[in-house]
Amino acid sequence: MRSVITALALAATLVGSNCAAAPLTETSSIETETALSEARITSPSGLLEVLVSAETSAPVWSASWRGKEVISPSVLGLRFAAGADLVDGLKISDIEIASQDETWEQPWGERQFVRDHHNEMAITFDHMDGRNAYTLRIRVFDDGFGFRYEVPDQGPKEITDELTEFRLNEASKTWWIPAAGWNRYEELYFETDMRAVPRAHTPITMELPEGGPFVSIHEAALVDYAGMWLNQRRPGTLEAELAPWSDGTKVKTSGAFKTPWRTVQISDTAAGLANSDLILNLNEPNALGDVSWAKPSKYIGIWWCMHINECTWGSGEKHGATTERTKAYIDFAETHGFDGVLVEGWNVGWDGDWFSNGEIFSFTQPYPDFDLEALSAYAASKNVYLIGHHETSGAITNYEEQMEAAYALYERLGIPSIKTGYVADGGEITRRDAEGKVYKEWHDGQFAVNHHVDVLKLAARHKIAINAHEPVKDTGLRRTYPNAFSREGARGQEYNAWGQPPNDPAHTTILPFTRMLSGPMDFTPGIFDLNFGKPVEDNPRVQTTLAKQLALYVLLHSPIQMAADLPRNYESHPAAFEFIKQVPVDWSESIMLDGYPGEFAVMARKDRNSEAWYLGAVTDEQARTVEVSLEFLDGFAYEAQTHKDAEGADWLTNPYPLDLTFKPAQKGDTISLELAPGGGAAIAFIPVE
Ligand code: NOJ
Ligand code: CA
Repeated sequence: MRSVITALALAATLVGSNCAAAPLTETSSIETETALSEARITSPSGLLEVLVSAETSAPVWSASWRGKEVISPSVLGLRFAAGADLVDGLKISDIEIASQDETWEQPWGERQFVRDHHNEMAITFDHMDGRNAYTLRIRVFDDGFGFRYEVPDQGPKEITDELTEFRLNEASKTWWIPAAGWNRYEELYFETDMRAVPRAHTPITMELPEGGPFVSIHEAALVDYAGMWLNQRRPGTLEAELAPWSDGTKVKTSGAFKTPWRTVQISDTAAGLANSDLILNLNEPNALGDVSWAKPSKYIGIWWCMHINECTWGSGEKHGATTERTKAYIDFAETHGFDGVLVEGWNVGWDGDWFSNGEIFSFTQPYPDFDLEALSAYAASKNVYLIGHHETSGAITNYEEQMEAAYALYERLGIPSIKTGYVADGGEITRRDAEGKVYKEWHDGQFAVNHHVDVLKLAARHKIAINAHEPVKDTGLRRTYPNAFSREGARGQEYNAWGQPPNDPAHTTILPFTRMLSGPMDFTPGIFDLNFGKPVEDNPRVQTTLAKQLALYVLLHSPIQMAADLPRNYESHPAAFEFIKQVPVDWSESIMLDGYPGEFAVMARKDRNSEAWYLGAVTDEQARTVEVSLEFLDGFAYEAQTHKDAEGADWLTNPYPLDLTFKPAQKGDTISLELAPGGGAAIAFIPVE
């Protein structure tokens, strides 16, 4: 008999080996003659350890950080509609250990080079009669870990429940949004004790008590599976609950399958969570090859005027998407160096109650007052392109029936990216079967998950990038499909227009430590008329200062960033507008320097196409002075061009005062940023001769 000690010793050997040289992959296998009962694996530096035990009725996993247990023994398992469940009566039959240290390159993103340094353990479980049950693959990095179930082919199977648990300290402070609700992911974050979380979406972020680490639970590589909600069925235990199909099944599989990675990011600081590449590292490499056609870009759009009721998506007197208005936007884009012009409401189907009429949208037929062909040519003549828009109202089958023709049309017209939309209440995605029978599905159920991957594949064939609104959450698939540019999947700027409770000043200080851990967001920053021409005391309105709108361009990463306001509002704030024109959308490095969810965040990023660095800092409704060490700068002499709240600025009473200063800066300096209540600062560090 070989014991767990053998596995431990081998893991320790790998941990101790010098993994710095890239790439390095080692694999070792431990065959067991009698069942092992426990196996553990540590991260490259030994900070993190994951332990799996088969001593209990169902296998359990747990995790320690700096020698302290942060996740207590938590159940693993899958249940099926028919056949043997993968829960109890299992024994460990084999353990494989591997290690990897390699660096890969992103075509675009928050950093150019990503280091993937982890130790891996693949534990194979068999049923007691010797039949193979599944392999649990665990990858442990110094900033978190992921594990997934790999299930061998047993023919078509229906998963009725995934039992994966995350047992946490109940006293953890938790930032979360509710799952399984009508408003999908578009919620303000709650900050509560962990035990007050009923059912939440991921990423969900916690600060463990007694100075414990920050922990965020999410998933990576959500493909051909249902999105995971976390349900606190018993106090202290968040259990995976998969978004169901309309027939109640969770996942329909056809043969061998792998679940998405269940991920846990861990760091001593909140900023450390935001600096982790765990989710990307757990995704498969680029499957599209040369994606030089997927170019990060900045855009304006016929968009905000609909949200503030100055124009309409539907036809008629106030129709926004007219040929004339679009030409004016193209001219504005050319003058100010924007790449794209988004036009919503260009296509037939918006008239009447478009929320409920998704089945009548055409994705190829423009309204008569929108000359798509001529406008595409006009845009090209100005070195600008149109950005496509496909609002489906959640009628996915109607969209799928037209996708090929719609993407071919856009490709022919030189339209390189599409904003898609799935406005429908949670659980109200419309699926039609071959007989025309209608079913209602979740935005994050397996049907929608598969749809979004199909969209990326088809769009790639037409050299088109996708920016999905009302999407399924991001799980890092942009690594595999780099035309997955951006998405919404959180409360964006639009909520500030609608007269509902707008995004409160803390919202954008929470996003970087929750939603943004999953990937880029099309938040659509840059509203300059914060009170829509009304008295500043009138609420609801945009609850930020002007400077904070600028900071969002650096803080909230998206390779496709919008200048969301109306052109006339940019013309009245030329200095601030210069920052939007200047700020890059593609980065060679990103560093979250400091922050705390719900209070503040300070992000530095280096331009992918120059030596310039940028910094964005935001605060909640509290005024705050943040000291920022410029240690991140390179060895140049820089000019720090700083846009910040001027004296007396306050989001509530006086949101506009903005100072622009030019000062020398160099690596090692410390600067002090005074942020107004609800304010922010945006800095460009430009190397000087
Ligand atoms: C919701 C999207 O988030 C928004 O940006 C868009 O304008 C509307 N749907 C209409 O498609
Ligand atoms: Ca939305």
